[in-house]
Amino acid sequence: MSKKYRSVFSPSTAQERKENFESYWEFTQRHGGELFEEDKDLAVKRAKLKAFKDNPVQLRTPLADPEAFYRNYVDMQDDPATLDRMTLMMTCMYKFARHEWVGIKGAWDVVPDMANSHSIEDKISRVHLAEEFCHVRLFDEILRTFGLDKVEWVPLSPWKEKVYEQFPKFPGFLMDTPAFVTELMGVTFYCHLHALFDDILADEPEVLERVKALLDEITIDEMAHVGQRRNFIGPIGIKISEALVSPFYKMFFNDMPEFDHLFDVQQMIKDGQEFDFNNVPEHMIERSWIPSYCKV
Ligand SMILES: [Fe+2]
Ligand SMILES: [Fe+2]
Repeated sequence: MSKKYRSVFSPSTAQERKENFESYWEFTQRHGGELFEEDKDLAVKRAKLKAFKDNPVQLRTPLADPEAFYRNYVDMQDDPATLDRMTLMMTCMYKFARHEWVGIKGAWDVVPDMANSHSIEDKISRVHLAEEFCHVRLFDEILRTFGLDKVEWVPLSPWKEKVYEQFPKFPGFLMDTPAFVTELMGVTFYCHLHALFDDILADEPEVLERVKALLDEITIDEMAHVGQRRNFIGPIGIKISEALVSPFYKMFFNDMPEFDHLFDVQQMIKDGQEFDFNNVPEHMIERSWIPSYCKV
């Protein structure tokens, strides 16, 4: 079968990127609906989350030991080898989402609000951040589906928070490549997490279906973010990004002891380096966005 999409690292011209920003901006307004800036929320996403919350599902067999999660979710206290995979999967999701939350919290106060966004790139970035806040709400809902309704979103240590706050103030030529690789890492993680759900939740069909639906909402946005952040990058930056995948993924995953117990990190790195949208299911492609120069 011939491939429909090219590598996400494919070359592009400045003119193509300009047109793709316009195309993305049109997509993102349709996709998220009205921006509620004071709530860091979007109309379409809010309605979707409410529909999930109005129709909750529960585990057939409640968690045997929720305290194992609460004891380890902010900082791992136990030896991870002694924890069951369900608990590790949940602490892992929390930690990944928490990093995302810390990053966007720092950025939200630094980037221009919509009234002060004059370029199309600024407007895109504002809506992008609002979408990321919606992802934290969706992750919170995933954890609630497992019966974990006492999760707190805890800031990092003060100096780490400061580092995250400085990041969005960096000039584009320094910031754009790591920002792109971070989005790519998100998509890689969510694809592997999707497969892990099948494995760990085989005896919980209702919860399996629900958490996959919640995760798909996030992944569809993140795939569009991958394309959008790629669109900020020119010919030199895209080579740097490709070289950054392996060290960046390793640095991030090494920080979380869960990863080695749950995932094939080498395969995740390979998937990042080879990412091209061809393995994304059609129902997700339809709702997402791909740069024109990544299409055959
Ligand atoms: Fe996200
Ligand atoms: Fe994202």
